[in-house]
Amino acid sequence: MKNFLAAMIFMLSLSSVASAAADDLLFNPSRGVEKTLTYNGRTIDFIAYENIPYVTEPASEIQKLSIYIPSEYLHGGVINGYAAKTAPIFLPNGVGGYMPGKILEPVENDKMTGGANASLVALSRGLVVISPAIRGRTTTMNGVHVGKAPALIVDYKAAVRWIRHNRDRLPAGNTDKIISNGTSAGGALSALLGATGNAPEYMPYLEQLGAANERDDIFASSVYCPITNLDHADMAYEWIFYGETKYFPAMWQLAPPTNSEAANNPVSVKKSFEMTPEEIRVSKILRDAFPDYLNRLNLRDEHGNILSLDKNGDGSFKNFIKGKYIESAQKAIDSGKNLRGVEWLTIKNGRVVDVDLKKYPAAVTRMKAAPAFDKLDLSSAENDEFGDFRNNPKHFSATLFNDNLAASEIIHMLNPMNFIGRENVTTAEFFRIRHGAADRDTSLAIPAILALKLQNNGATVDFFSPWGQGHGGDYDLNELFDWIDSICK
Ligand code: DHB
Repeated sequence: MKNFLAAMIFMLSLSSVASAAADDLLFNPSRGVEKTLTYNGRTIDFIAYENIPYVTEPASEIQKLSIYIPSEYLHGGVINGYAAKTAPIFLPNGVGGYMPGKILEPVENDKMTGGANASLVALSRGLVVISPAIRGRTTTMNGVHVGKAPALIVDYKAAVRWIRHNRDRLPAGNTDKIISNGTSAGGALSALLGATGNAPEYMPYLEQLGAANERDDIFASSVYCPITNLDHADMAYEWIFYGETKYFPAMWQLAPPTNSEAANNPVSVKKSFEMTPEEIRVSKILRDAFPDYLNRLNLRDEHGNILSLDKNGDGSFKNFIKGKYIESAQKAIDSGKNLRGVEWLTIKNGRVVDVDLKKYPAAVTRMKAAPAFDKLDLSSAENDEFGDFRNNPKHFSATLFNDNLAASEIIHMLNPMNFIGRENVTTAEFFRIRHGAADRDTSLAIPAILALKLQNNGATVDFFSPWGQGHGGDYDLNELFDWIDSICK
């Protein structure tokens, strides 16, 4: 009864938001503002159409997007082989830490890249940029928490639908070539958008917001260090880090971030903590549960060989993961890096011949105590993300918890693994997934099984683990946009 009353109050608070006519989703091209920035000594002229609502019944005032179009396209020009009608649409999200994501307007001095941000580089390469602001776990409206799961993916989809709705009104941009981009929680979001095109599960949420009645599948998805598959990420973490009981949290874990930028710029601290006996006990349960989960996925490598694990966590999947680290280290050596001091690598005559995953945790260090994501005391960003509209955090991993779990439909809707290869879903054709070899925020197994499942179901996936790279994104923008050119041209 209490729940019912609360739900009614929630619905009333939503309907009290000023509602707009469906026509308000039509783009008005007279509102553009001319802007100029510099990138690599080049002047980038563009038109900005800013803060356009992308739904007619917003749950929050932040549900707006901005459009940035290279000025040449308004005069029939060609950039990098693209013209107004053919230019791909780059759709970056600013989500981090499952916090609200800001619109990513082009800037010259970006904290994450130390220079031009992805939006500015995209314009310089002739792409149209459309960036929506997105609700996050702290978004409130009239005191109600309206940004908990699955709000972030619903908003990203609503933005895609808005773009399609305006396909004939936008001055430039090919709505069949929409490419998402994000980092960490934003990488998880980008992967989710790419994996879940037109999935019916999200329809009631989209309808409630008055999203345009259009398709929400996209062409391609760029994914940096995705904090995804949250209901299995705890097991995958212990599969790598079990045995290591000391952990070194990032600064933002000790002092929670107040915005998404802080979450995407984690500063490691040297301060370490010892896991409690209870956390160590749970670490073993999680590690022991991972092979079963992995084997049920029936993943195959690019030669069609099945990837599996025995009950000790050894087997062909482990060799696949070792192969990703070997490939990473080899590329670093080939580009002139000296990796002789790296204890977990075996290098012979300049060739990386083996990696010792038992030595990896001590070298890279554990960032999170077990469970890494679904905390015993409900204290993580993810517990908050799965929380309810009154801000009560929830569990989401049925391996450890059977009480105070988020609704199974909500957990389902946040995991791209549940949608790939399904009949009534259109998964993107292309994915580019990056997870640094020094990333401690989640196990490399998580992006790996995402990449494999996508590949096994027909997507073309470029998956790589850059050497020395920790948790971050947009650090290789030339390569990112080369990849976009390679799939669009
Ligand atoms: C992010 C990082 C994490 O380690 C995490 O658990 C959730 C989100 C992030 O940077 O977005």
